Amino acid sequence: MRKIVIAGNWKMYKDLEDVRAFCKAIASSLKTIDLGKILPILAPAYPFLALMQRELSDTPVQVAAQDVSAHAEGAFTGEVSAAMLSSLGLEYSIVGHSERRAMHNESNEIVREKLLLLMDNSLRPILCVGETLEQRDADDTKKVILEQLNGCLRNVSLYNADDIMIAYEPVWAIGTGRTATGEQAQEVHRIIRTWLMHSYNEALADEIPILYGGSVKPDNIAGLLAMPDIDGGLIGGASLKADQYLQMINIALESRK
Ligand code: 13P
Repeated sequence: MRKIVIAGNWKMYKDLEDVRAFCKAIASSLKTIDLGKILPILAPAYPFLALMQRELSDTPVQVAAQDVSAHAEGAFTGEVSAAMLSSLGLEYSIVGHSERRAMHNESNEIVREKLLLLMDNSLRPILCVGETLEQRDADDTKKVILEQLNGCLRNVSLYNADDIMIAYEPVWAIGTGRTATGEQAQEVHRIIRTWLMHSYNEALADEIPILYGGSVKPDNIAGLLAMPDIDGGLIGGASLKADQYLQMINIALESRK
């Protein structure tokens, strides 16, 4: 059975003291979690990656980056490379988040380049895909998701399920409080899993985690996790609060009992 992934994307929130306080608040509760069933991930801003790794070193939490440069190395002021992330010992990075696609004009091709650099450096991309409200209303959801998958994963070899995670994040549900229903999310997760089956193989498609993101919180996560193809959440706002993050982990554990 696939593990449940409870991933927090902290975006541009929390400073040094906030990060420390959060880590302190969750560390002792997390030490006892059964790793067989659940994978907690947290993605703070770049300056706090190493600090968080230290603070959570004796917990099962994996620390992830929120993004990576599309370049391997060079004169790119302000950018952080996949090799740098790898040198920290990180194993995961989000890539292709809709906020980066929309505000930094990231095309599927750029996302693909980032994803390849991550994989070359033994990092596992958490690839985000998702449609806007306009696209959903025009009945284009499936088309958009398939375009994003075909573009971002064009000629990308996947050998095992550990190579990647995919996060379905409908843009209209991000930060809006308007979450997709379990059924709406499940429909798209199935489309993604079927695409993986046709593009790779059935074993990989069965094992690759597909997370849902968009206004996930303690109140609605159980309904989402009850869906057969939803393997966890990529969570923004609700992951910023230690009690809510822990609550969602506990709900996830319950859901696999
Ligand atoms: P919210 O949970 O705040 O809607 O954010 C979702 C998200 O963008 C996670 O990457």
